[in-house]
Amino acid sequence: MEVTNRYVVIKAHVDGPPKESHFEIKSEVISLELEAGSEDTIVKNLYVSIDPYQINRMKSYSSSQSSINLAAPVNPGEGIDTYGVAKVVASGNPEFQKDDLVAGLVSWGEYTVIKPGGLLKKLDPMGFPLSYHVGTLAFSGLTAYAGFFQVCKPKKGEKVFVSAASGSVGHLVGQYAKLLGCYVVGCAGTDEKVALLKEKLGFDHAFNYKEETDLKATLKSYFPEGIDIYFDNVGAEMQEAAVSNMSLFGRIAVCGVISEYTNTGRKASPDMIDVVYKRIKIQGFLASDFLNIFTEFLSTTCDHLLTGKMKPLEDISDGLESIPLAFVGLFYGQNIGKKIVKIADE
Ligand SMILES: NC(=O)c1ccc[n+]([C@@H]2O[C@H](COP(=O)([O-])OP(=O)(O)OC[C@H]3O[C@@H](n4cnc5c(N)ncnc54)[C@H](OP(=O)(O)O)[C@@H]3O)[C@@H](O)[C@H]2O)c1
Repeated sequence: MEVTNRYVVIKAHVDGPPKESHFEIKSEVISLELEAGSEDTIVKNLYVSIDPYQINRMKSYSSSQSSINLAAPVNPGEGIDTYGVAKVVASGNPEFQKDDLVAGLVSWGEYTVIKPGGLLKKLDPMGFPLSYHVGTLAFSGLTAYAGFFQVCKPKKGEKVFVSAASGSVGHLVGQYAKLLGCYVVGCAGTDEKVALLKEKLGFDHAFNYKEETDLKATLKSYFPEGIDIYFDNVGAEMQEAAVSNMSLFGRIAVCGVISEYTNTGRKASPDMIDVVYKRIKIQGFLASDFLNIFTEFLSTTCDHLLTGKMKPLEDISDGLESIPLAFVGLFYGQNIGKKIVKIADE
């Protein structure tokens, strides 16, 4: 049987803030039957992840593009790969059977043809919604868990600051930190998000960074004795303000610098004298460095979800056509929690 597969592409490299007009939907006719001897797997995409790092892949150049395969350049007119949950339509790979649910590297499209050796595994939803397996129980969750526990090496009672705290990674970091017994403050870009952090997710304090004129003074007011751990999702001036408020031997996990992705003129310039004399450790990391603790992360997080100790936030848009707007919205703070697009019903 042949079907029309629609998929999202960029029209040209995207070197500034993304706009919906940078994207278009293409279509191709594909066969849902495999040629004899093929070891490919054809999947129907159900839920796909929408992530800020994709912007660095869409640029004509970013140093990130040569770091790992997952960050490889995206070329105009070509399909864009992403993490997602899908259903097997046909498979020549003995690991997968028709109708299996799978999670792995699919595409911003309706169907994906996955070569043998591609990042794909059978999915046991374990009673959770399929969308949880796109973010909270997948790379966003692993990023939060590994970045917090492995990079920041937290201790009970330490004081933790999280930026982009209502986002996919940030809202999980804050909850892991509260469960460990830390004092947690988050920042976000709207009053609605601030209220959610305090009232629903149990953050000790939260503030709207867009309403603050002196970030150093703001952080000082929430951390009069200093910040032990800063989980940095944004970079630039927030990182500078955090460095100036860090305690002795403080740790900064640089998870991402979203405020610098679309504005090359904006760069964190932390006071390096502070870094030296306060013996601050600043470490970048990638979730893919921590696949060795995926099982531990998954079982701990599933327990927290089942006991209601952790509340995942998801922001799901409907339909392939919504991908460009969903993606652009990340850079304008339009999402609350993990941004996902639902492509099709199971
Ligand atoms: N190291 C890794 O392996 C890894 C893995 C996943 C993600 N990341 C990084 O982690 C960060 C968060 O990613 P995510 O997937 O959780 O995205 P997200 O937080 O769900 O969405 C992005 C959020 O960033 C905030 N933001 C956008 N532009 C901003 C700006 N100019 N200044 C300050 N905040 C801005 C917005 O929230 P506000 O309302 O707060 O502005 C927006 O909702 C990103 O930097 C991403 O690249 C790293």
